[in-house]
Formats: sequence, structure tokens, C-alpha cells
Amino acid sequence: MMAAHDPTEAAQRTFVLSGASGLVGSALAELLEASGHKVLRLVRRDARTATEVRWDPGHGEIEAEKLHGAFSFIHLSGENVGEGRWTDERKRAFLESRTKTTDLVARTIASMDPKPASFVSASAVGYYGFDRNELADESAKRGGGFLAELCDAWEAASAPAKDAGVRTVNVRLGVVLSKDSGALAKMLPIFRMGGGGSVGGGRQIMSWISLGDAVRGFHFAAEREDLSGPVNLVAPNPVDNRTFAKTLGAVLHRPAIVPVPAFALELAFGQMARETVLASQNVTPKKLLDAGFEFEHPHLEDALRSELGRWSRPPAG
Ligand SMILES: NC(=O)c1ccc[n+]([C@@H]2O[C@H](COP(=O)([O-])OP(=O)(O)OC[C@H]3O[C@@H](n4cnc5c(N)ncnc54)[C@H](OP(=O)(O)O)[C@@H]3O)[C@@H](O)[C@H]2O)c1
Repeated sequence: MMAAHDPTEAAQRTFVLSGASGLVGSALAELLEASGHKVLRLVRRDARTATEVRWDPGHGEIEAEKLHGAFSFIHLSGENVGEGRWTDERKRAFLESRTKTTDLVARTIASMDPKPASFVSASAVGYYGFDRNELADESAKRGGGFLAELCDAWEAASAPAKDAGVRTVNVRLGVVLSKDSGALAKMLPIFRMGGGGSVGGGRQIMSWISLGDAVRGFHFAAEREDLSGPVNLVAPNPVDNRTFAKTLGAVLHRPAIVPVPAFALELAFGQMARETVLASQNVTPKKLLDAGFEFEHPHLEDALRSELGRWSRPPAG
């Protein structure tokens, strides 16, 4: 008899995605479906199609019977931390939207028979703190600050799946570059008007990743049997903020010489600014590189040109 999840089997696999409506989730669903796989989306409302599965993480409810036979769960849920000031109430929502959802997915996986081959749960490079200037691989210690504590609790919530013997990967994701959403999307209008520049002195290191590589990285983590525990999902060439601004300006053919002082951002956004746009996170994807993962966009300029459709020469192929 064939094993439940024979890695040599080329057949269609079923991936369960949470946060599938988000930036990473929607691109990942597209990639998996284009590769011939089936994607079941966990939705926080009534299911409208056969490939949607209702769950209510606040009340610990999920239509588990519809998940039978799934090959992998990729968990991306979490309330957006990158907007506005952080109040105590919002911080609670950031935390609970990650820990309660992760716990429910992990416990559901633990109760399944057969169990999926893998559980890939998002986390973030915020784990390493907001002032990490020396290079951090996956063995580096947790840093300080709210996001580091959040990531710690988020990763810990995946334990029920791991304890049940399911290969569990905590993907510490860097800043995903997309023209439609997130950090780059916010910068674009300012840079396009020629008002861009470095922020907060420009020395802080940004561990970025192209959206395409982020999505391929999640898929890789789901499939590769030798990956488990924390895995950094960032490009292998982080840059400082000044280099990021200069490169983005050059790709857009706009000057990028208007600096934004740290105090202005701290005044407007407080801790949110300190731990996101002003944060320094120097992170290397050691486990992915050791596993032979090939980045399509290892360098920032190529990643930006590809995302923004701005080629200095026609793209290869
Ligand atoms: N983008 C980045 O640069 C970046 C960097 C580091 C880490 N991450 C993390 O990676 C994950 C995916 O990132 P993303 O950029 O795709 O995020 P996103 O676009 O903000 O999408 C996250 C998804 O989570 C679900 N969600 C939102 N609020 C929720 C709540 N209160 N309770 C439960 N679910 C909620 C929503 O999906 P549904 O409505 O479909 O449930 C939403 O589309 C997130 O957990 C994020 O924190 C992202």
C-alpha cells in the first residue's frame, strides 16, 4: 500500500491556507493552483464555494471534517501591525489574531487522522528585536520589544502540531516587497513625487524579500522534509535604509534625497515606528540556503525592477 503522503507522488496535493485573502496568501494560492494543487481557504464567514472552509478562531470553531486528507497547512493569519499608533487594545488584537488562530490550527492538525505532512506557520524577523545590527541566523536569540514577544508567543502556539509529530516550520518572514500592499506600497507615492529619502538616519538594516520568493519559500518549507523549526525567509542580501532609498529612487528615475528624521516618525506613530520603519534587522536565510533554495531575486535592484516593471534592459527570456 502507498504511504499517505508519498514525496515521489506527482499527484495533486491539498494545501489548507489561512489568511488566504492577504498579500502573501492570495499570491501563494495562485502559485499552488497554477502548479496543479488544490487549495482549501479557511474563511472567517460562511463558506461560499466548495474550496472554502469556515472557521471562527475567536470561538475555537473550524469545519475540521472538510480538511481530511490535506497534505499541508500554511497559516498566514494576523491583524496588520503596520498601520497607525499601537494602543493596548490593538496590541491585544495583534497578539490574539496570531496566537488563537495558530493554536486552533495546530490543535486541529494534532487531532487529524491521517495527519498532514507539514504545518508551516508564519512568524516574522521581528523575533530578533528592533535593533539587531549583527547578522542573525535561526540560532540567534530573541530580541527585545513588543514584536519580538509577539513572535515568540506566535511560534509557541504551534506546539500542539509539533508535539503530535507533524513537521512544523515557523517562517520568520522579512519585509515583503509589493507595489500593492505593505511597506513598499506606502513608500511609492512619495518616491514617485520625488519626495523620498532615507528615514531615521538611514543606517538601520532592512531584511526584505520579493513577493515571488516569499511565496516560493512558503511552498518550499511545506514540501521539504528536512526543514523544521524556525526558518528565516528573507533575501540573502539585506541593505541599509539609505541604500534602499537610493536604489528605489534610481529604479523610479527620481531623486531620493529628502530625509525623514526619526523624531518625526516617533512623534506621529510612537512604538509602531520604532519597531517597524525605524527598526534594524540584519537577518540571513541560513537554513534555506543550506537546503539549496534558489532565490529568484537575491538582489534588491532586480527585485524592485521586477515588482515595479521597470527594466533598464528587457527581462531575460
Ligand atoms: N507582509 C510582510 O511584509 C510581512 C512581514 C513579516 C511577517 N508577516 C506576516 O505574515 C503573514 C502574512 O502576511 P500578509 O502580508 O499576507 O498579511 P495581510 O495581507 O495583512 O493578510 C493577513 C490575513 O490575516 C487575516 N486576518 C486579518 N486580521 C485578522 C484577525 N483579526 N483574525 C484572524 N485573521 C485575521 C486576513 O485573512 P482572512 O480575512 O482571509 O482570514 C488577512 O488577509 C501575517 O501574519 C503577517 O503578520 C508579513
